[in-house]
Amino acid sequence: MDKVVTCVAPVNIATIKYWGKRDEHLILPLNDSVSLTLDCDQMHAKTSVLAGPFIDEDSVWLNGQLMSIETNERLKKCFDLIRNLIKKREGENSQEAKWNIRVCSENNFPTAAGLASSAAGYACLVYTLANAFGLVDEDLPSIARQGSGSACRSIYGGFVHWKAGIDDLGSDSTAVQIAADTHWPEMRIILLVVNDSQKKTSSTVGMKQSVKTSELLKYRVQKCVPERTEEIIKAITDKNFEKFAEITMRDSNQFHAVCLDTYPPCVYLNQVSHEIISFIHDYNEAVGQIKVSYTFDAGPNAFLFIQQNDLSLFMSELVNVFPSEQPESSYLRGIKSTLPNKIKPY
Ligand code: DP6
Repeated sequence: MDKVVTCVAPVNIATIKYWGKRDEHLILPLNDSVSLTLDCDQMHAKTSVLAGPFIDEDSVWLNGQLMSIETNERLKKCFDLIRNLIKKREGENSQEAKWNIRVCSENNFPTAAGLASSAAGYACLVYTLANAFGLVDEDLPSIARQGSGSACRSIYGGFVHWKAGIDDLGSDSTAVQIAADTHWPEMRIILLVVNDSQKKTSSTVGMKQSVKTSELLKYRVQKCVPERTEEIIKAITDKNFEKFAEITMRDSNQFHAVCLDTYPPCVYLNQVSHEIISFIHDYNEAVGQIKVSYTFDAGPNAFLFIQQNDLSLFMSELVNVFPSEQPESSYLRGIKSTLPNKIKPY
């Protein structure tokens, strides 16, 4: 390989949350999850790969910092799985599989702040490696999953379903596209950044603690998620916004209830997050219909879903309730709002 291969992968936002693993090593989830992948123009990871006999060792640079591959089981796993695929294609003694690889990756948004950076990061790493070695037809979501669970969903654009599967080895735990973004072109996502500093408890640690201690998680996994997954896939297929929005809000609320049911509790939402939740419910009640919904990952930042036709009225209300201190900037009171994002495959 004599040229650098560069790819970009966007973040995805779950509307049915993945929270809890049945296998920590293979990253197999306890439940199905459903997400929307954002447009690549906005929040994304950008990764460049160079490989060849002239490179003296494997190295990964993330946002300008050299990472240790040896001590990072997940990075090592992704490299190994890609090399295994090369050997499968070219035989055990493949020279290409022995090449060292240099990776350089950057996020254009804060890392580890509950903004799905690991999802975009690992999806991009795996996709770029696969492109560099001509492996794009392989099951890339299953490899990305072993970097970070939610990364398997960022391999596809549009609306994505990560099936938990039942196999102990994970052969059936992979992501499939429910619909391309073109299926629902009116859909918009607004991100309200309440706080973009690094979170105290990572998703990996938080969900492990929930699996150990939360009774509510068991009920969620067995009873709620299977029904909700079926319902939200139907709502997406039918473009039924009210149904989609209600399930999204209920699932976000239940996920954060599980976090509080964890012992010791994981508290990801703050006062401003709760103000946003109240504001959205008040707004929907005032207009007499569910026009906008929220979801929160493992952090205080809100992702809002709304359709294009309802956007300008809603934005004017939002700016009223959370007035901007610097009108020309995109900072609202304590909140940074990105431009409404149109989902698009990359
Ligand atoms: C709250 O995929 O970051 O964002 O598999 O341990 O890397 P690991 O966890 P990660 O967890 C994401 C959790 C979530 C919900 C979701 O995206 O479904």
